[in-house]
Amino acid sequence: MHSFYKLFLAALPLTTLVGAHSSSNHRPITVGRRSTDKTYTIQDFYLGEDFFNDWDFFTGSDPTGGNVIYQNKSAAESKGLAYVNDSDYSTVLAVDSTSTVAAGGDRDAVRITSQNSYNGGLFIMDASKMPVGCSTWPSFWTVGPDWPYGGEIDIVEGINDQAKNQMTLHSGTNHTCTIDTDDSDEYTGSVLSRNCYSTETSDSGCSIMDNSSTSFAYGFNNAGGGVFALLWDNSTGMAMWHFARADIPDDLTDQVPTPSTWGTPSGFWSAKTCDITDNFYDQQMVIDTTICGNWAGGDAYSKSGCSGKCTDMVANATNYVDAKWVINYVAVYQ
Ligand SMILES: *[C@@H]1O[C@H](CO)[C@@H](O)[C@H](O)[C@H]1NC(C)=O
Ligand SMILES: *[C@@H]1O[C@H](CO)[C@@H](O)[C@H](O)[C@H]1NC(C)=O
Ligand SMILES: *[C@@H]1O[C@H](CO)[C@@H](O)[C@H](O)[C@H]1NC(C)=O
Ligand SMILES: *[C@@H]1O[C@H](CO)[C@@H](O)[C@H](O)[C@H]1NC(C)=O
Ligand SMILES: *[C@@H]1O[C@H](CO)[C@@H](O)[C@H](O)[C@H]1NC(C)=O
Ligand SMILES: *[C@@H]1O[C@H](CO)[C@@H](O)[C@H](O)[C@H]1NC(C)=O
Repeated sequence: MHSFYKLFLAALPLTTLVGAHSSSNHRPITVGRRSTDKTYTIQDFYLGEDFFNDWDFFTGSDPTGGNVIYQNKSAAESKGLAYVNDSDYSTVLAVDSTSTVAAGGDRDAVRITSQNSYNGGLFIMDASKMPVGCSTWPSFWTVGPDWPYGGEIDIVEGINDQAKNQMTLHSGTNHTCTIDTDDSDEYTGSVLSRNCYSTETSDSGCSIMDNSSTSFAYGFNNAGGGVFALLWDNSTGMAMWHFARADIPDDLTDQVPTPSTWGTPSGFWSAKTCDITDNFYDQQMVIDTTICGNWAGGDAYSKSGCSGKCTDMVANATNYVDAKWVINYVAVYQ
């Protein structure tokens, strides 16, 4: 990740870098129960080819039962499903949109996992496009070992062009984790389910739906994309924000993020009712696009207003022309 990161830093005005050192003297302020105006500093910054060198291509069969064949790095690159755009350094992760596939068959797709794992911090994805199209199930999430005991944090997820982003925690069954009913003023989204416990067989987790129609699918893409942020703080909880391109805070653009100034998050899982330290550890980041499967297929497909059967849609190559992530960067700050 280093060479691109240096290029990126070299392009920043010096005042921005100086600002990173001088802005830590303010009196701490409190937003809800997330105290501290801490300015975060970069731990890992992934851009361009970093996604191919510092992340691994997952090549197993889809654990969520999707109609996909995940490609290894060399196959994904040679098929044009994973590349860096030379004109803007964005990283494209795509579903095959040219091959003939039988109805009910499997289409080539890409799922990558960060080699580094994390135990807290501020996680940022800046994307200008996310995969859209009936039957698609895009996600950006983190996962720990020994699922569900190591926990899972779904920062971006949804199916079949749903209008708003669904954020979810999955915890193991061994420790408490629910969304606090008394905390509804601490997030702008709507709670879909409160119990975060997952077992090997039952795993819907605890979800909050973002309130903004620029947070997912066509709404996200039409707004020029934007930023998703997760602040994982053992002592206060998990907070997630979405910013449409036009609303990205300057401190984030300047790489000196101060989440306490960002306002109420879209989703918040308080440490008061979720044992964050015991339920979430050694998280690796994952960027994925699958097709149909456990969630996007079945009942959810017809309910979403998509026509026909999900597994028949796989045969329609033109449906996947926009089934791609265009990622500007992913960063982890501490
Ligand atoms: C990558 O996948 C292709 C196509 O399935 C296969 O031919 C090739 O051997 C694989 N390469 C590696 C390094 O696994
Ligand atoms: C590369 O990026 C430019 C500028 O965003 C865009 O116009 C072009 O379509 C992209 N090309 C590919 C092949 O993704
Ligand atoms: C959680 O509890 C289950 C069932 O008792 C057990 O199999 C598992 O090892 C425990 N996991 C951890 C991380 O303690
Ligand atoms: C959610 O969105 C609706 C419609 O845009 C708006 O009226 C409402 O105030 C929003 N709720 C919150 C909590 O932001
Ligand atoms: C959060 O808790 C985990 C698990 O106990 C620990 O490994 C990690 O260091 C903690 N994170 C921070 C930032 O203190
Ligand atoms: C294939 O998908 C495209 C885009 O979703 C749609 O416009 C078209 O009607 C579909 N064709 C068939 C045969 O289903």
